[in-house]
Amino acid sequence: MAVPLFDTSTPLEPIRAEIADAITRVVDGGRFILGPEVAAFEAEFAAYCEAKQAIGVANGTDALTIALRAMGVGPGDDVVVPSYTFYASAEAIPPTGARPVFCDVDPDTGCVTPETVAAALTPHTKAVIAVHLYGNIAPIAEIEALGVPVLEDAAQAAGSRFAAGRPGTLGTAATFSFFPSKNLGCFGDGGAITTNDPEIADRCRMLRFHGSYDKTTFEHVGYNSRLDELQAAILRVQLPELDRWADGRRAAGRAYEEAGLADVVTLPSPAPGASPAWHLYVVRSERADALEAALRDAGVGAKAYYRLPVHRQPAMRELAAGVELPVTDELARTHLAIPMSPVLTAAQAAEVTAAARSVLTSV
Ligand SMILES: Cc1ncc(COP(=O)(O)O)c(C=O)c1O
Repeated sequence: MAVPLFDTSTPLEPIRAEIADAITRVVDGGRFILGPEVAAFEAEFAAYCEAKQAIGVANGTDALTIALRAMGVGPGDDVVVPSYTFYASAEAIPPTGARPVFCDVDPDTGCVTPETVAAALTPHTKAVIAVHLYGNIAPIAEIEALGVPVLEDAAQAAGSRFAAGRPGTLGTAATFSFFPSKNLGCFGDGGAITTNDPEIADRCRMLRFHGSYDKTTFEHVGYNSRLDELQAAILRVQLPELDRWADGRRAAGRAYEEAGLADVVTLPSPAPGASPAWHLYVVRSERADALEAALRDAGVGAKAYYRLPVHRQPAMRELAAGVELPVTDELARTHLAIPMSPVLTAAQAAEVTAAARSVLTSV
């Protein structure tokens, strides 16, 4: 039985007609930019996250740059960011004029910790980007207790829960990506920023709209970065499904545990107090490359997303000169994403586990 790395179409089957109706509604309404669908989605997504405000933007990368600028980050500032993440977490910093300062992560959760952040603080640190990696939850309150504002990069964590609330309200602001394969994905690019701070929200709205309130007077050099009406209408149909899909992701994680996958690889560990909606299910093995090749040969999707961590990417080499991040290097070398989706069955989890067992117990 082939098992795909992810499945974005099966979960949408029961709501295809509703999505088609939503698209027709937008086309018939003739309003495509910053209209009623974006306004309604922003209100509904803010309510879902239990945040005071949500601002729709064009993608999760712009969301980070705009949120950082709205938090006051600019030229001469440093922003602490993990290197074990998708490249965009750091790529979003230089356009603000600030410098990324890379920090290490916890080996078990894959997320930054107060200790790894503290080790990277400089006299110029203006903010920290804490990535909720793979849907796990970084300890935001403990990091803000260091006295530095935190921007949650929640691109991979829609649907996750934490004892203290949902991603989106744990820090000063949070950003989301609605890239199609994300836990809440649209039919193209999309993103959002959430915050409880009305001034930050106001600045985000202005920055996403060319730095203007009225497209007549331009207060700042901003961006043309809006979530569009079609994507917002599609997201509005999907949002009520998100918790059910998140439960499906958690059940898939439990199915791997019950199948005995922990006998042959290290499984991902939820952070204390976290109930992750696994976006990617990432295991660790000293033989990760051999496992990837063998799983693929067996028809099982597998992918090493971050084999070259961000601080070792060509574009970041100058900014990261002399930086040593041993846990990041170790996770980059040993990680492997295996199939995960809201509809992954126990039989599929058993199949993946059997394939992994046969590779890793052979000499
Ligand atoms: C952790 C993280 N941050 C930021 C992004 C950027 O989001 P987008 O692709 O919507 O620009 C992504 C996803 O691609 C991501 O996984």
